[in-house]
Amino acid sequence: MIKSTLTSLLPLRMRNQVDGWLEILDVLSELRDPRVLAALAPSGARGLVLKRGKQGVPTKTPAHHAAHFDWSYPADQPAMRALYGRAKKNQWNSDTTLAWSTSVDPYDPARPLLPEGFLDFDALEALGIKLDARERQRLVHSLTSWMLSQFLHGEQGALFAAAQVTEAVQFFDGKLYGATQVMDEGRHVEVFHRYIDQKLEKLYPINDNLFVIIDALMSDARWDMKFLGMQIMVEGLALGAFGTLYKQTKEPLLKSLLKYVIQDEARHVHYGVLALRDHMKGLTERERREREDWSFEVALLMRNRFLAYEVYEEWFEGILPREQWRTFVTETPGMRQFRQTMFTRLVPNLREVGLITPRLLPRYEKVGLLQYMGGLAADRLDGDGIIAELDRAA
Ligand SMILES: [Fe+2]
Ligand SMILES: [Fe+2]
Repeated sequence: MIKSTLTSLLPLRMRNQVDGWLEILDVLSELRDPRVLAALAPSGARGLVLKRGKQGVPTKTPAHHAAHFDWSYPADQPAMRALYGRAKKNQWNSDTTLAWSTSVDPYDPARPLLPEGFLDFDALEALGIKLDARERQRLVHSLTSWMLSQFLHGEQGALFAAAQVTEAVQFFDGKLYGATQVMDEGRHVEVFHRYIDQKLEKLYPINDNLFVIIDALMSDARWDMKFLGMQIMVEGLALGAFGTLYKQTKEPLLKSLLKYVIQDEARHVHYGVLALRDHMKGLTERERREREDWSFEVALLMRNRFLAYEVYEEWFEGILPREQWRTFVTETPGMRQFRQTMFTRLVPNLREVGLITPRLLPRYEKVGLLQYMGGLAADRLDGDGIIAELDRAA
């Protein structure tokens, strides 16, 4: 309260700058566990303060994991071997599977990228921003491009993380499966980039908070942290986000692209659950507690911090205070639904790998995430099941 009264006395530009800095402090103060803070702080400095993802040059992130060789080639994980078989069978070639000749017009009212009502334009008007019909469509085009750009950047992270994890895991069947995931993620980078480049013609830079999470995963030496971060958290959230967009978009090429990507992602999260469920049981109490806290706090970061500031900066900087944009994006119906679908997928997986223990339950309850506890985890859901569920709900 005092914070907002004080900043409201400043000119808008300065007020926005102070708001940005206070938000970084908020992110860090949300990380209550000192070990989680220590693990994420260097990535936080690179992403939030130095904005390494936005400098227009490639980023070099050092990796510290050990590659695990096994010269005896054991058949050690039948469930992973089965997943490997399924992944081989279900490979698809984006050139022939997707109808790239579809003409995509982001302003065609018969095939909107996102439905009317995704953004609450009345709320925006109450803040003094009145957009005509064309401007509304343009804003929806920007927001869709922003979301797909973040998916693309996430997929690049997933491609490298899948390669690292394939080197680092000790299960041989997991390595074979991992090779298919590397291929899948390569294809995802390809299709999202192609869609953005050829159809939307608008690529946004990586969101600072997404950069922090990817940077932390890439540089952590522990394979299970990479796994937890990428296969459970980022992939789980991506699966939810893809699902929401699949359900909402009326643009046929995007819809079919997402349908194929969701099928692959369902295998990836399934693998994450298989690999971590047993592993967590073998950890010491202290190690498990760290992972419980880490996943809770990263889930909160993801929920609270994907606020499309890059769209704000393009459209409303200098017109609307940053904190008012934050409230608008948080409350707007489409983004609310995004969060809901994401956690419907994520929370059951965290439960299944044993990271929502009685110690954590009150914290999940306090932030409203306990309602998602009863859902099916990824080892009980395949891609067809997820698509059928989304089609039913559409
Ligand atoms: Fe992917
Ligand atoms: Fe994936």
